[in-house]
Amino acid sequence: MSESTVGKANIGVVGLAVMGSNLSRNLASREGNTVAVFNRTFARTETLTGEHPEAGFVASEAIDDFVASLKKPRTAIIMVQAGAGTDAVIDELVQRFEPGDIIVDGGNANFQDTIAREKRISPTGIHFVGAGISGGEEGALKGPSIMPGGSAESYETLGPILASIAAIAEGEPCVTHVGTDGAGHFVKMIHNGIEYADMQLIAEAYDLLRTVGGLEPAAIADVFSEWNKGYLESYLIEITAEVLRQVDAKTGKPFVDIVLDEAGSKGTGVWTVQNALDLGIPVGGIAEAVFARAVSSKPNQRAAVQSVVTARPEAQKVDASFADDVSKALYASKVVAYAQGFDAIIAGAEKYGWNINKDKIAKIWRGGCIIRAQFLNRIADAYDENPDIATLLEAPYFADAVAEGEAAWRRVVATAALSGVPVPGFGSALSYYDSLASKRLPAALVQGQRDFFGAHTYKRVDEDGVFHTLWSGDRSEIQTAGSSH
Ligand code: 6PG
Repeated sequence: MSESTVGKANIGVVGLAVMGSNLSRNLASREGNTVAVFNRTFARTETLTGEHPEAGFVASEAIDDFVASLKKPRTAIIMVQAGAGTDAVIDELVQRFEPGDIIVDGGNANFQDTIAREKRISPTGIHFVGAGISGGEEGALKGPSIMPGGSAESYETLGPILASIAAIAEGEPCVTHVGTDGAGHFVKMIHNGIEYADMQLIAEAYDLLRTVGGLEPAAIADVFSEWNKGYLESYLIEITAEVLRQVDAKTGKPFVDIVLDEAGSKGTGVWTVQNALDLGIPVGGIAEAVFARAVSSKPNQRAAVQSVVTARPEAQKVDASFADDVSKALYASKVVAYAQGFDAIIAGAEKYGWNINKDKIAKIWRGGCIIRAQFLNRIADAYDENPDIATLLEAPYFADAVAEGEAAWRRVVATAALSGVPVPGFGSALSYYDSLASKRLPAALVQGQRDFFGAHTYKRVDEDGVFHTLWSGDRSEIQTAGSSH
């Protein structure tokens, strides 16, 4: 490498597939950044530098030259497939970096892996940062939402660099230091879980407007475009209108009608549900979205049930107000899903010792990421006003909005059930809301059942202590030693 490039770059990127290339281009387009780039296959590096000479990349074929081209504290962002590929690059950089240098994993790594990596690397004095980067390929190029974890010290160097490329919402860069070690990847995981829930709710709204409302995709696209001008405004609503407006060139049919109705997933939604279960946090909206994708991908079971189901219900007759009802049901269910997602963030922060600022997370999700929406301003306001609310459903703005839409929400869920339209997202959200709102729950009976077959004891509403009924004896009640199983 030439002497002139030693220590020239303030930031480096390893891994130049589309996301890595776009992130490199974004970095290079910002005042004050000189970007070093490296890819295991040098041809890909040459393609990037050849296609974008204006970027002024400092390209290296050898990893040693890449490291030498970084000025201290050396800062490199790894943009390779999560898993073994990331570990291989981390090891190569750890061998060459010095105390104070910063290694950033910008992939969708599992936050537990990030915690373990940070624990392994930090004794060397090198900072390891897991950063969630949301917004897909376009976001990487034009401005993602970025959720870095890692040490506060690393953020002193890394923060301004990430702020130079992040999306801007309400004049603020969509990046914040989320918390230490794996906090960034944890919050990105929750973002993805919420994304699943949001997408599922939108899909259910589409299905209702089509199956019950009798609208064709293009007409539904117009409905979504209208919704995107109001309180349902969001990137996902916006792109849904585009997807529904698309016509398949081969057949002339609506694009959505030629797509096989079996949904895939790279797995981050599954992680969200698994961790929420471990944390004891109900995330029904996210779980139903994950399961809905799984159900859709069970063609044998679907065919089997369709073969034995002789009659399906007729769609209920609805009038023009149905679309407005659906928009209210969608909004109320969305509030529930986001409330559950933030509950998981709160529980994760408590379990892993992170000081996560919920209103800042809502603010950095206002732009750049897949769930970006004006709606997140309302969440930020709610946590700004009272960071310790028990649930977002308690915040006055959301309490009023859900109350206003409640009747419509119930009509839509009932209409769906009577019409045979599956609405696992809408339905579970309404039941979650009713569970929180009910003064008495059938959990009392569950406690009785548990005590009957397993002597698992129960508490009483009218006195302290823990009790057990002698079900196989005279069915008298005894007070146990005060501990409840
Ligand atoms: C983002 C997205 C992204 C996600 C893909 C695939 O924030 O840019 O959430 O990280 O991994 O969209 O997601 P699924 O294949 O799991 O739906």
